[in-house]
Amino acid sequence: MPEVLIAERPAPTRATGTPLIKSEQIARRVHRLGKQISTVYADIYTPLVIVVILKGATVFAADLLRSLTIPAELEFVRAASYGAGTSSHGQPLKLAGMVHGPLVNRHVLLVEDIVDSGRTADAVIRRVSKLRPASLRLAALLDRPARRSIDVKIDFKGFTIPDRFVIGYGLDYAGLYRELPAIYSLS
Ligand code: IMP
Ligand code: MG
Repeated sequence: MPEVLIAERPAPTRATGTPLIKSEQIARRVHRLGKQISTVYADIYTPLVIVVILKGATVFAADLLRSLTIPAELEFVRAASYGAGTSSHGQPLKLAGMVHGPLVNRHVLLVEDIVDSGRTADAVIRRVSKLRPASLRLAALLDRPARRSIDVKIDFKGFTIPDRFVIGYGLDYAGLYRELPAIYSLS
């Protein structure tokens, strides 16, 4: 039974090849972002509230959280637009599980895996802004400016990548490949 499941799953090496961003590079960059974020929020009086945009940002957020040297709380919002495709264009964006009370008057940092068209980050920013946080910033591991349709300010950015669909380190294709420790281009 497990053999059948493994056999039906496409082999990651076939779909990926050499990483676009190696796990060591990711680790170094995320660690530096954590330090930078800790400096920016060094003087706030309440713990920083990290809002992770599910599901892709979970791996990044877990590493980022452990690179912080300031107190932080963790919240989640679910955003889905892609289904099983590699483009978000024309598909409706769904937000679910949005927290409310814990964000009022708090310093909020949204954590996203990748800003592509900008629609997801923009939708979450708009929603959270209405709750009147003390401040609101965005951390994104990846920025793919080639497909941007809504202007989004990324306050803390990991890497800018070319116009290729990527998988690994939390990012999926049809729900798969999130477990890969590096980032690969799916061509
Ligand atoms: P946007 O709303 O078009 O900016 O797309 C952002 C969301 O789409 C991200 O939160 C990802 O979940 C997903 N996404 C965009 N590009 C990729 C990719 O290359 N690989 C995996 N997921 C992606
Ligand atoms: Mg996502």
